[in-house]
Amino acid sequence: MAHAAVYLETFGCQMNVLDSQLVRGQLTALGYRFTDNWQAADVVLYNTCSVREHAEQKVWSRLGEISHLRKKNPGDGSSLPGVVGVIGCMAEREGRHLLHKFPVIDLLCGPGELDKLPLLIDNAMKTSSRGQVALAGNTHRRSTTRQAAEDQLELLDLSRSFDPDGIASQSAYVRITRGCNKFCTYCVVPFTRGREIHRHPDSIVDECRKLVEAGVREITLLGQTVNHYHYDLASAVTVHGIAQPQVGAIVKDHDGHATASTVTFAELLTRIHDDIPQLARLRFVTSFPRDFGDDILTVMRDRPRICRYLHLPVQSGSNRMLQAMNRGYSIEEYNDLLSRVRSILPGAELATDIICGFPGETEDDHRATAELLRRGRFKNAFIFKYSPRPGTAAADRLPDDVPTDVKKRRNNELLDIQSAISAQVHAAYVGRTVDVFIEQVSVKAARQAQVTLGWEKPQDQQVTQLSGRTDTDLIVCFEGPTELVGQIVPVRIDRAAPLTLFGSLVNEPVSA
Ligand code: SAH
Ligand code: SF4
Ligand code: F3S
Repeated sequence: MAHAAVYLETFGCQMNVLDSQLVRGQLTALGYRFTDNWQAADVVLYNTCSVREHAEQKVWSRLGEISHLRKKNPGDGSSLPGVVGVIGCMAEREGRHLLHKFPVIDLLCGPGELDKLPLLIDNAMKTSSRGQVALAGNTHRRSTTRQAAEDQLELLDLSRSFDPDGIASQSAYVRITRGCNKFCTYCVVPFTRGREIHRHPDSIVDECRKLVEAGVREITLLGQTVNHYHYDLASAVTVHGIAQPQVGAIVKDHDGHATASTVTFAELLTRIHDDIPQLARLRFVTSFPRDFGDDILTVMRDRPRICRYLHLPVQSGSNRMLQAMNRGYSIEEYNDLLSRVRSILPGAELATDIICGFPGETEDDHRATAELLRRGRFKNAFIFKYSPRPGTAAADRLPDDVPTDVKKRRNNELLDIQSAISAQVHAAYVGRTVDVFIEQVSVKAARQAQVTLGWEKPQDQQVTQLSGRTDTDLIVCFEGPTELVGQIVPVRIDRAAPLTLFGSLVNEPVSA
C-alpha cells in the first residue's frame, strides 16, 4: 500500500542499526513513509535483538502494550496499526513460536531474509492474514558450498540509497561480513545471523565510495569478526551482474599464508583508505582476538585516516572460562595481542566486552578477569552478566550455577575497577589537542556529566554543546556553532570524566 505510515524501532547492535537503515531505504523507495509515533502508524516494526534476555524483554513489553490496545479496541481496529511485525534476531531465534506467544504479531522476518520484508508487509496488508513469515530456520537456505548461490540478501546492501539528502548523518556503516561461525557457547548470533559470509571487496569499496560522494565522512565497517574477512577473487562468481558473497574458510597456500588471489582484511582496509582519499575516517568493529595479525596493525599505523581504535572483546581473564566459552584463544594469546597493539600502535585505545558469572565461574576466575582489566587498560569495557540463551551449547549443557547476587557483585566489582581505569585513560588527554569528528549537538550527555562533576554553568550562560569523537573513539564535548556538525576540528582537552572529555575549540576547522 503506497503512503502507508511505518513505525520502525531498533534494538541491539550496529548490525541492526544498519539493517534498519536499509529496510527504511527499501520501504521509502516503495512509497511508504515513516513516523515516530507508533500509534499513528499503519505498520509497526520492531527490529529485535536476542543476545541477552534483557534485550528481548524490551520487545515483549512493546508487544504487550500493543496487545493490550488491540484487546481494548477490538472493533475494526482502525485506530491501531494494521500490521505488527517482529524482524531481526529475536524473530529468527523464537521462530513461529512467537506468533503463539503474542497473537498480535502479523509477520516475522529474520535478519537473513530482510530482502523479503516488503513482500511480507504487502501480503499482510492485502490479505490481513496473520503469520507472514520469512525465517532461515535450521536449514539455511544458502548453499553450503564455497559460493553462496544467488545471495538475494546482498541486494539489500546494494539497494542502499545514495541520495545526498537521504543521508541523515556524515557517519555510515558498511557491512563487510555477515553472520558468524565461531559458536561461542553462550551466543545466539550464529543461530540468528547464520554462517559467516564475506562480501566482494569491489562491492564494499564501491559502496564506501558512493557514500563519500554523497557526503559521508566517516565509515565504520561492520562484521562480528571483521579481522576474519577474506575473499578469494579466483573463485568469485557473478550472478545477474551481482558479485556473490563467499562462504568458507580462508584459502591458504602451503606456507599457511593467504593465497595471492585472496583479499584479506588488511588489504581491504588498504584499498578503502587508498582508493577513497576523501574519506576522513575509517573504523571497524568487532575484532576477534584470534587471528589478528600484525599486517592489520601495520596498515593501521601507516594509513593516517584509519582510526587507532580496536574493540577486542575478551569475555574472561580465565583460560578455564575461555575454554568453556569456546573462544579459541588463551589469555596468554590475548595478552600477546595487547602487547603487539601497544608496540605497533602506541597511541591506540582499546575497548573490550566481559561476561561475568558464566557457568562454573569461581572467585579465582573472577579475580583473573579483574586482573586482566587492570592490565589491559581499556578506555571502556562493556560488562555483562551471563544470560543463558535457549538453544546455545552453554544453556543446553551447563547449569547457570552462579547465583544472581554473586553475578551482580562480580559485575559491580569489575565496573568499579574499569571505571577507575577509564578515568585514568581519559585524564591522560587533559592538556592535549585532539582532532574531533563532530557528530551532534549534544545537550544531554554534556550537561549530565557537568552536573555530576559540579561544573554546571549558570543558566544565563547556556551555549550550544557539540559532541564528537577522537580517532581513538573517546567522546569529547565542547562549545561551538552548530554548523560544525560533520566536520573534524581541533579541540584542546581541559577536563576529563570517566567516559567523556571536555574541551574548547582552538582553531578554525581543519580543511575538509
Ligand atoms: N562478535 C563479537 C560479540 C557480539 S555479541 C565478539 O565475539 O566479540 C556482543 C557481546 O554480548 C559479546 O561480546 C558478549 O560479551 C555479550 N554476550 C553475548 N552473549 C551473551 C550472553 N548469553 N550473556 C551475556 N552476555 C552475552
Ligand atoms: Fe557470538 Fe562468538 Fe560469534 Fe561473537 S564470535 S558473534 S560472541 S559466536
Ligand atoms: Fe543482537 Fe542480533 Fe546484534 S542478537 S547483538 S541484534 S547480531
